[in-house]
Amino acid sequence: MSAMEGELRAILQQLTHQEKVTVGPRDFWLGHWHGQHVVAVLSRIGKVAAATTATALVERFGVSEMVFTGVAGGLGVGVTVGDVVVASRFLQHDLDASPLFPRYEVPLYGRSHFDTDARLVSALAQATQSVLADPLGLLGAQTLREFSLVAPRLHHGLIISGDRFVASTGESAALQRALPDALAVEMEGAAVAQVCHDYGIPFAAVRTISDRADDGAHHDFNRFMASVASRYSAAIISEMLRRL
Ligand code: ADE
Repeated sequence: MSAMEGELRAILQQLTHQEKVTVGPRDFWLGHWHGQHVVAVLSRIGKVAAATTATALVERFGVSEMVFTGVAGGLGVGVTVGDVVVASRFLQHDLDASPLFPRYEVPLYGRSHFDTDARLVSALAQATQSVLADPLGLLGAQTLREFSLVAPRLHHGLIISGDRFVASTGESAALQRALPDALAVEMEGAAVAQVCHDYGIPFAAVRTISDRADDGAHHDFNRFMASVASRYSAAIISEMLRRL
């Protein structure tokens, strides 16, 4: 699952035996990839869209595992553009039912964090490591230069989600102060993690850092998506499926 077309495009090019099934406003692409039956889908942006899509994947398509691939804004120290974060767990940074429940706690779940699945995470991290070992081969010298990518690194830890594109230095500093463990911010992962928790479905997510969630966050976003993130996504998911 991905939130934006640019994130999913390169993946759809790799699915064989494709069949499109439309449910409501969404197209679900059924296909084969490295011997696995896969359903690829664009969630659209935000937590509600992602939760709806995840629920349809379970209820209509009976998926047994879920993986999200996309981009995120870097928050953690040293989490820079071109790096990749594999999530260990998720939290909704804009959820606040206080004083009825503690800040960030999902009401009636008794928790604020949702973990990812260790087996999927391990396959995803190994796949990412192998893709990041040769950025020149994957992206070419011109793209590396264009985005000042030197030695992209893999990070593993907390990703936070909210219904806001974080594009100011003030807001990203506030998130860093409030949630110092957070490596990256995006708009869907925690919602999918909660749906997967509800249904007992293993879940993992990988995000390429497209920006630093600061005043320059919108800069070159679309070009980064097309030249870097979509290539990373397809290469990482391909490697992961080979390992499962
Ligand atoms: N996805 C990519 N960059 C992001 C940002 N800065 N805030 C929220 N979601 C993002």
